[in-house]
Amino acid sequence: MPSNSIDSLLHEDRQFPPSPEFAANSIADPSLYERAAASRVEFWADQARELLDWETPFTTALDWSGAPVAKWFADGRLNVAYNCLDRHVLAGHGERIALHWEGENGDTASYSYAELTRAVKQAANAIAALGVGQGDRVAIYLPVIPEAVIAMLAVARLGAVHSVVFGGFSSESLRSRIDDAGAKLVITADGGWRKGKVFPLKDAVDGALANGTSTVEHVLVVRRGHNEVQWTVGRDLWWHDEVATASTEHEAEGFEAENPLFILYTSGTTGKPKGILHTSGGYLTQVAFTHRNVFDLHPETDVYWCTADVGWITGHSYVVYGPLANGATQVLYEGTPDTPHPGRWWEIIQKYGVTIFYTAPTAIRSFMKAGRQIPAQFDLSSLRVLGSVGEPINPEAWIWYRDVIGAGTAPIVDTWWQTETGGIMISALPGITNLKPGSAQVPIPGIKIDILGEDGTRVDPPAGGLLVVSEPWPSMLRGIWGDPERFVETYWSRFSKDGVWKYFAGDGAHVDSDGDIVLLGRVDDVMNVSGHRLSTAEIESALVSNPMVAEAAVVGAADEATGQAVVAFVIIKTNQKDAHTTDEAVALLKAHVAQQIGAIARPRQIFIVSELPKTRSGKIMRRLLQDVAEGREIGDTTTLADSSVMTVISDKLK
Ligand code: PRX
Repeated sequence: MPSNSIDSLLHEDRQFPPSPEFAANSIADPSLYERAAASRVEFWADQARELLDWETPFTTALDWSGAPVAKWFADGRLNVAYNCLDRHVLAGHGERIALHWEGENGDTASYSYAELTRAVKQAANAIAALGVGQGDRVAIYLPVIPEAVIAMLAVARLGAVHSVVFGGFSSESLRSRIDDAGAKLVITADGGWRKGKVFPLKDAVDGALANGTSTVEHVLVVRRGHNEVQWTVGRDLWWHDEVATASTEHEAEGFEAENPLFILYTSGTTGKPKGILHTSGGYLTQVAFTHRNVFDLHPETDVYWCTADVGWITGHSYVVYGPLANGATQVLYEGTPDTPHPGRWWEIIQKYGVTIFYTAPTAIRSFMKAGRQIPAQFDLSSLRVLGSVGEPINPEAWIWYRDVIGAGTAPIVDTWWQTETGGIMISALPGITNLKPGSAQVPIPGIKIDILGEDGTRVDPPAGGLLVVSEPWPSMLRGIWGDPERFVETYWSRFSKDGVWKYFAGDGAHVDSDGDIVLLGRVDDVMNVSGHRLSTAEIESALVSNPMVAEAAVVGAADEATGQAVVAFVIIKTNQKDAHTTDEAVALLKAHVAQQIGAIARPRQIFIVSELPKTRSGKIMRRLLQDVAEGREIGDTTTLADSSVMTVISDKLK
């Protein structure tokens, strides 16, 4: 978000109440807030009973005695995949479409709930035959194709744990995630379609497993791209050989509510991504509740589309688990918004009659830039609820989204949450809340949020502070895989005391005079580029792993299109200085970061410098580099060991 729009966010006074017609037909009603306020834990227990089928009902809703690791509904047993599939078929909705899949190259497929259930049962049988059982980890590295959803649900059905790795991550990133989780099986594809071309995936898996020390026993390969692949006999198996021939009968077993469901890696403030662990009953309760109420889902009539890749948390919670637990009909799209033409998304909305649309501000801003004449060519009149996620949405983009995509009437829900929170935490409810551009607005019923000052005391509106979640919630992370200390240190050490645990989200926020929460971005060394989370430290360590580089500092600089962009300052080793021209070095280093982490981490700019601004204790002052990267006057340099460094750097960039 451009920094000058923060001011306009603080003074936003446009409000959009729900239309009487929308309010009258809305799923949610104000009693949700009253019930949650009367007894938060009981409220969630009611949701768990109402929204899910339990093989063994729970008797205790929350056990916080092991704080900060929560147990929700712990003596209950359920099967997550059964809740997303079989029970809808048993309730007579087997013919309802679960997935309308649209491949980027024009391929399509539709799965009814009965067909999806059958496909997942077959996949579960095939995966079990490869020795995968409760607690085993399975890495999934796939494009957005039905098999990605099928694979996730099949793993969940067996009580095993999936770790989905976004298909845009490099072989190196995949390797570290496979190794950290100790995965037994990898499910991938030959390749997928993106920007009109097939990109290879199986090659990256081969690279990730090349050192031969991996825990992986088998690689199950979906044929999608029809590109050529290398084959390791005995290890590699085709999905169509193993799954299509498997039995369509599979009895779902109930697992305890705290059985791990998935690990999803996300960037933190250090170089090493964190494996965020989510479990079953509480997670499914909150994602089902929020998907239903935040999007006002009417499963019999709505067609829902969330544009996220299944490799991100939004894809887990609001493509796979929330919508399917609620028996929704949804669109799944493999490719990019502008392939083969810039109106592809709007064409898909028109084709399937999408009614609820959930996407990221960065996409909206790029459509704004391309102009309203592109969506104007399509019939978008089916749309009735719009959602936003991943980064603050600036009021200009919010108004454009409502006017141009939502015909000036569709409510927009700006949903704040994180990989760690598992489900939506702050959002309007569209039939109840008066909407306000640029604000995520209010905690959902049953969620307790506070804005604290540095000293841990609550700040009074309209002052700004740090966002904390003050009470445990059902879909909260249960830990960082293999690193309980980092879990406590990262999220709980800052504001917890005297046995009162407060979760520190890493975001700055303020509450306006109406009591609405306005998010102000990360306060740590985590960047948000196009709604994707990246760590400055991770990109710095990728840069210094290149033999040319002596030292590197990375900052997130405000960028109109992508919210933030990666800007790197690099010192080249003395003996390498003459090896390349500056332009060559910059190009090589950009490519190196993309190869180490993935194309999403490729820096927008790299500046070759001779020194970096450091404090006397040797800490790099990124704040000053950010000033340079954003073209601002340089701030206070008095704590620098050598205050002339900034003059040298900024002179160089003029
Ligand atoms: O800074 C917040 C921002 O995205 C971060 C979480 O990133 P990630 O775990 O990748 O999950 C993204 C999808 C849920 C948060 O710490 N963020 C997310 N949603 C919003 C947001 N910032 C402002 N407004 C939002 N609606």
